[in-house]
Amino acid sequence: DTTVSVSPAALGFTAVPKSLTDLVTLPAGYTATVVYRLGDPLAAGVTAFANDGTDSNYAQRAGDHHDGMTYFGLSATGTPDATSNTRGLMCINHENINQSYLHPTGATSGNRPYGEVIKEIECHGVAVVEFARAASGAWGYVQASTFNRRITPFTPMVINGPARGNAQLKTVYSPDATQARGTINNCANGYTPWQTYLTCEENWAGYFRRDASDVTARAGTKQQTSLARYGKGAAATGNYGWTTATAPAGDTNIAKFNITIDATKPADGTGDFRNEINQLGWVVEIDPYDPTSIPRKRTALGRMNHEGAWPGRFVAGVKPAWYLGDDAQNEYLYKFVSNTAWAAADAGATNRLAIGDKYLDAGTLYVAKFNADGSGQWLPLVFGQGPLTAANTTYPFADQADVLINARLAADALGATKMDRPEWTAVNPANGEMYLTLTNNSSRTVANTDAANPRAYTDPKVGGGSATNGNANGHIIRLKETGDTTEATALTWDIYAFGAGADLDATNINLSGLTADNDFSSCDGLWFGRTSNASGLVKPLMWIQTDDGAYTDVTNCMLLCSQPGTVGDGTTKTITNTIGATSGTQATRIGAAPGGNLRRFLVGPKECEITGIDSTPDGRTVFVNIQHPGENGNPGNITSNWPQSQAGTASGRPRSATIAITKNDGGVVGL
Ligand code: FEO
Ligand code: CA
Ligand code: CA
Ligand code: CA
Repeated sequence: DTTVSVSPAALGFTAVPKSLTDLVTLPAGYTATVVYRLGDPLAAGVTAFANDGTDSNYAQRAGDHHDGMTYFGLSATGTPDATSNTRGLMCINHENINQSYLHPTGATSGNRPYGEVIKEIECHGVAVVEFARAASGAWGYVQASTFNRRITPFTPMVINGPARGNAQLKTVYSPDATQARGTINNCANGYTPWQTYLTCEENWAGYFRRDASDVTARAGTKQQTSLARYGKGAAATGNYGWTTATAPAGDTNIAKFNITIDATKPADGTGDFRNEINQLGWVVEIDPYDPTSIPRKRTALGRMNHEGAWPGRFVAGVKPAWYLGDDAQNEYLYKFVSNTAWAAADAGATNRLAIGDKYLDAGTLYVAKFNADGSGQWLPLVFGQGPLTAANTTYPFADQADVLINARLAADALGATKMDRPEWTAVNPANGEMYLTLTNNSSRTVANTDAANPRAYTDPKVGGGSATNGNANGHIIRLKETGDTTEATALTWDIYAFGAGADLDATNINLSGLTADNDFSSCDGLWFGRTSNASGLVKPLMWIQTDDGAYTDVTNCMLLCSQPGTVGDGTTKTITNTIGATSGTQATRIGAAPGGNLRRFLVGPKECEITGIDSTPDGRTVFVNIQHPGENGNPGNITSNWPQSQAGTASGRPRSATIAITKNDGGVVGL
């Protein structure tokens, strides 16, 4: 029996308590299997991972910090098969690194050795890995699969869409601005129905070095305005000090991370690395089924700290949309609407990246404005319309490519709503309503709340440390497109749930009435279960993952499962915000209290984030990523032994990993 025919009134598991243990904890009746860990070899002949800092060649091993992922089914003969529940290609983002654990005694300080730096760089990126379920039912990955692939910050890519060929993307690597080299800080993800993977470049700016001379050289220019708006306005050494390494002659692996202008080189950027930073900040499309395919940067979706790129529903004859969060404090929610109406026959096409060209290279990028009365608008980022012209005094736009490369500046000019850090988006397959996690915002003040970002308060740290001000615990906003169509330019919204400790003020902070069974903080990952699509469940399951700074004194990060209602099922309310001596009121719109329809399903090991989730098509295996367990430790002070601890061994360095969760009776996970 592979079909799901139940429409449960309630979730089918008992909530898991909060936990500080070094284990993945699940409800009774469930089992987790570790499938794919940091360092696991991805080709025949690559040695087993020693996990002592001596390993190298991460271009042939699993990277670190597993994040967003999507499962693409594979038939027994190795062809795409969206129905396969036993074999698939998992595309997994490797967002970042636990630097010290990658070396025998931690990273070398001062000028970095070239080998250490290359190891750290190649530990980033994306992996395509074959997963298979054995006859015994156990999941594993296939080391020698010819589909396995690592995509790194050095992998060749092409630039597509309106910014292709634009002067701001000219580099040594691609003087005509049609190619890019690599991807980095790949956070969350998305997919297309033509079976490709979308990976999203999030906190890329931090990797670049910028010397004080460069701040001087670009003072007063549009380049400086842009760099400042994307978090690179001042001098910086760059994450992990990569550019202190000396590369072999002619090797630009290190130099490309230093954007400082070399005044002896051409002003167009083709002789130094001044424009290299503009090659990042995009959504990248990958064909998982063709290991030789060249990933394509889809510039029509704009340049930002892309968290994810989740599609709305695909309806024949209607232009499809992807919802995009820009994760930084007071940034925006975007939507890309294709120019091309959906044709269902394209789902089976074999020229997958060409189909991507058809839908993802031309369209309209919109940014969201949320009004106090529960309405909202999608504001178009179109050159020549409204303030997006050469006459703009903050940033004079030159053309549509300039608008997309500097999407944040365009959204500022349009007056979009500044949000409490937009993370993942998810779409309810039953009704098309879109949900967005707003993880937290320590810079939200009593004075600058609005109806969609209504809380500013002080969250006490229970176990010591400093209290956190602002929106410390985050919330999940949701919207209904007018006419239930992805093409809509108007919407209605409310807030599905506010994160909070169950012990916090129920009148002004714990507004969703969370209890010990479902209280959470800093929601981040968000996903509707696949089985809801296949089964037509009246109440599809939504999964919420946490990345939690404000609550880790009480519990490790977690995964919750819910059956949400619909936009507008709650009420309006005016709350009182208080930080120190400052108080003020703010009206907002709150969905029905989730109660028992929201329950904690999993708690992770020490110092991890829970992020990344997908399932087999039947929903009977759910894959979840355990990111950076033990991230506050180092080789001399190991603070988590996970995943070894899961097998009863309390030793060894921690490893980010993908787990497979199954129900012991073979049923659908969560029901
Ligand atoms: Fe990589 Fe916004 O999380
Ligand atoms: Ca995230
Ligand atoms: Ca986060
Ligand atoms: Ca993290």
